[in-house]
Amino acid sequence: MNRKRKFEELETWREKSQKGGGAARIKKQHDAGKLTARERITLLLDKGSFEELGALVRHRSHDFGLDKQRYPGDGVVTGFGTVNGRPVYVYSQDFTVFGGSLSETHAEKICNILDLAMKNGVPVIGLNDSGGARIQEGVVSLGGYAEVFWRNSMASGVVPQISAIMGPCAGGAVYSPAITDFTFMVKGTSFMFVTGPNVVKTVTHEEVTLEELGGALAHNTKSGVAHFMSENDAGCIAEIRQLLAYLPSNCEEKAPMSAAAQPDEDAAAKLDTLVPESPNKPYDMKEVVRGIVDGGSFMEVHAHYAENMIVGFARMDGRSIGVVANQPLSLAGCLDIDGSVKGARFVRFCDAFNIPLVVFEDVPGFLPGTEQEWGGIIRHGAKLLYAFCEATVPKVTVITRKAYGGAYDVMNSKHIRADYNIAWPTAEIAVMGVKGAVEIIFRKEIAEAKDPEKKMAELESKYEEHFANPWRAAERGYVDDVVYPSETRLKLIRALNIVQSKADHVPRKKHDNMPL
Ligand code: HXC
Repeated sequence: MNRKRKFEELETWREKSQKGGGAARIKKQHDAGKLTARERITLLLDKGSFEELGALVRHRSHDFGLDKQRYPGDGVVTGFGTVNGRPVYVYSQDFTVFGGSLSETHAEKICNILDLAMKNGVPVIGLNDSGGARIQEGVVSLGGYAEVFWRNSMASGVVPQISAIMGPCAGGAVYSPAITDFTFMVKGTSFMFVTGPNVVKTVTHEEVTLEELGGALAHNTKSGVAHFMSENDAGCIAEIRQLLAYLPSNCEEKAPMSAAAQPDEDAAAKLDTLVPESPNKPYDMKEVVRGIVDGGSFMEVHAHYAENMIVGFARMDGRSIGVVANQPLSLAGCLDIDGSVKGARFVRFCDAFNIPLVVFEDVPGFLPGTEQEWGGIIRHGAKLLYAFCEATVPKVTVITRKAYGGAYDVMNSKHIRADYNIAWPTAEIAVMGVKGAVEIIFRKEIAEAKDPEKKMAELESKYEEHFANPWRAAERGYVDDVVYPSETRLKLIRALNIVQSKADHVPRKKHDNMPL
């Protein structure tokens, strides 16, 4: 054995594997405004914490001259490291090697990461930048994708799975990110679609650009496929690091704690006067959230999609929480198809990972109209209802203003086993809004009145006095207390503390059959 030569060989392999597809392709990657797979990992993980796995793995193909191009690593950098001191597994596709395309061995490396993440109860982050199935490998690469999808499905609810799209992601490849919990996209350089603009043109005669069809904006605003949108690779990776701080490493752990902070001072000072006198005037529910949660801790998820429903992570006295709230500034806070699905998926994530739910409610009901009815608001609204019903994490609700009709039940009411529900004095908890209710129940009286308008106003104020308030619900114990807005934070912190060891269970079953 020639030890010196062996050591030199190791050095040569290491150098080769660091270079990916070579300097020219790395330059092309940089010129396109993208970082390389290794640069992304360096930014994602704590300095010096990365341990690579499979750096010397090479493909086994011979077709189409592939045997003459065998890059160590085979187009994906995989391994583990830490983010803010906590372990994560990561894979990062290397576009400089065969366009990051997925071969049999490339898939095996990703599968290995997913298996290890599952076995060790550690989150997994996939940085996707790939031309899809390695065309030269044919069906073998399709099999590789399916192996990845299967593991993503098995890992769902066991460890958090985060996908960042940092280049192309087309064809069936989009289904791995779609199964994972959160998808990040980068403006201008990332795109996702099942079929690209050329196929779309052939089949439907629609002219659409790559960006319009599947860019970050399209998926953050129109389809809801992506949850976050960043200006560049570095911004995207910084957001992933931020998100991880709210999540436990696996489903057996509790939501993580960090240092507590006082809420935003300005927002907190405005709480008592935030809800307008007129029930038809909107206000910004995000101000309510900011005035109550730890200062600067609110990280909105899906910020640009279904803005009538707000979801995101925050902290209360240092504890990670999931916020679900109606937004009166958009569609008056009504529940619609997109908002219901958005809310349901977030509630299920929080429940799977032991993150307590804090709900802020101001909802006039479900959005009326043929578009909603024919689109299946019944089926989609049921998802949100179902998600709250089955959630066994600590769940608390604050009714700030409207809590009408079925939406009252859906939005984490006591009846579906919320742990602590409070209302502000401005709450209106009733079957429906004043005007609609009066028009229905007093139709005859109004029609027969000498001055119908005067009669209507009279009856409205009577109804308002009777029902558009929190007192009826409080009388029944449907809300545990009516509190000043400025008292809310303290009440919620105490409630979350007392229910933190809650042990609730759903009946034994193979699995549920939630409305899909
Ligand atoms: C093998 C590929 C590849 C692929 C790209 N390359 N995609 N090699 N298999 N799928 C290689 C190119 O040959 C090139 O090699 C290098 O990667 C960079 O590609 P370029 O075309 O030069 O880059 P760019 O102009 O940026 O275009 C990127 C691209 C384009 C839009 C992704 O490459 C492209 O359209 N690729 C094919 C995409 C595709 O149809 N994939 C199959 C989808 S079906 P050199 O040596 O020149 O650097 C699919 C099914 C999955 O994925 C199903 C799962 C169930």
